Amino acid sequence: MDEKTIELFEQSLRRCDANPEFLDFFYERFLASSPKVRKKLANTDFHRQKRLLRASFYLILLASEDPQNGPARYLSHLAARHSAKDLDVGTELYDLWLDSLLESVEKYDPEYSPEIEEVWEKMMGVGIDFLLSRYHHS
Ligand code: HEM
Repeated sequence: MDEKTIELFEQSLRRCDANPEFLDFFYERFLASSPKVRKKLANTDFHRQKRLLRASFYLILLASEDPQNGPARYLSHLAARHSAKDLDVGTELYDLWLDSLLESVEKYDPEYSPEIEEVWEKMMGVGIDFLLSRYHHS
């Protein structure tokens, strides 16, 4: 990933995360998006889950800096957890996940713009593509 995109992502993430409601809103939107999502997250401790998601944004950032080896190096654990053998998170749920996240960024980043939206799409694409590529063989 190019440096400009990574820098814009990190700055936008900081602005969003400056508001403690950012990830609450994200999980509200995500849970509202489908009964399938509510079912998967029925027993989730969201206090812990928000911390884990925050950490995974930085793992995705690290992965994006090294397209060859980065995703396997930083995201293998996450991919195994979301794969068919474990949480079994399929493609259609990632669309809902990304839409909910983009809505949250739009609401909580005061400097939101079409460029910022594209930056989040590209960066999260690194994580989503890798997790889906490991869906069947983790
Ligand atoms: C790139 C997108 C995603 C990222 C970065 C992400 C991130 C995470 C992280 C960091 C964890 C914690 C893993 C651990 O405990 O070690 C997790 C767990 C989980 N994720 Fe995701 N996730 C993504 C997409 C999704 C989607 C689309 C779903 C669909 C429902 C989903 C459902 C879950 C569930 C059910 C758990 C387990 C929660 C629990 O322990 O109660 N994730 N995710």
